[in-house]
Amino acid sequence: MRSWLFIPGDSERKLAKLDTLEADAVILDLEDAVLPAGKAVARQRVREALDARPVPRSVPVWVRINPLDGPLALADLAAIVGGRPEGVMLPKFRTVADLQRLDAALAALEAREGLAPGSVPMVAVGTETARSLFELGSLADVGPRLQGLTWGAEDLAVDLGAASNRDAAGEWLPTYQLARSLVLAGAAAAGIPAIDTVYTDFRNSDGLRESCRRARADGFAGKLAIHPDQVAVINEAFTPEEAEVRWAREVLATFAEGSGDGALSLHGKLLDAPHLKQAERILAQAAQSAR
Ligand code: COA
Ligand code: MG
Repeated sequence: MRSWLFIPGDSERKLAKLDTLEADAVILDLEDAVLPAGKAVARQRVREALDARPVPRSVPVWVRINPLDGPLALADLAAIVGGRPEGVMLPKFRTVADLQRLDAALAALEAREGLAPGSVPMVAVGTETARSLFELGSLADVGPRLQGLTWGAEDLAVDLGAASNRDAAGEWLPTYQLARSLVLAGAAAAGIPAIDTVYTDFRNSDGLRESCRRARADGFAGKLAIHPDQVAVINEAFTPEEAEVRWAREVLATFAEGSGDGALSLHGKLLDAPHLKQAERILAQAAQSAR
């Protein structure tokens, strides 16, 4: 999935837009977009939004719960799982054990609600705690319920006591570039998609487009969004271009005609196994985008 749009869980006005959005998924937020005084009402509104849209839904509805080490997470889960969200996003995890605890809690709630075991997947927000950076190589240990990894630079800066996460030109400082790269490597090592973090300057669509271009080139499969205007830009940027699709088809055709050779040439350039995988990935992305 390319675009994941956050909607604050307590905002009736924004929740009412849910069915008009072109996002590949929405994430109804119970965490940082909701002030402490709004937590209970947000939980109730999110559950109502889920119940009002029985599965199968036209837009997948995910829910971001509160962090597991606080007092709200389990009550969030107990309130929403019966509404059959397409998935749950966990912010600020510290360790793989946190993700395994969430897996167990979801399994218990699935049993309570009569849902198939493992039917509510999860996406983790890596890098929001310093500790999580040292766990990103072990995410395969969480098991099949973990289906994506994203990252956040704001909370990491808070955890590190940093004054800023970007330089004067707006580029990530080295610590946050490292975190971003660890997310790419950790997701790939676990065989799950990496989803790039939010672009907060939501009126700047050129900046967003450039951020998406880099993210896709580096291996991210999609990007988080905070404003409806960001969705179309993200969808377009993460959809393979015509020329890429043409190249990918040529690569497959060249291998098909290549009489079993592992090294071939196309337009005067070497083609071998990594190119074939890259071509297959582009065609898979193109097929998914067309749905
Ligand atoms: N989801 C659904 N609708 C949204 C939306 C969102 N994330 N963001 C804005 N809208 C709606 C607004 O309600 C408005 O509609 P209205 O005029 O009928 O009320 C319309 O889109 C245009 O919004 P705009 O005036 O341009 O923005 P804003 O000033 O109302 O809101 C934000 C700006 C950043 C506060 C808002 O986009 C937002 O809440 N984003 C999500 C924040 C979030 O969830 N953060 C947690 C993850 S980092
Ligand atoms: Mg946050």
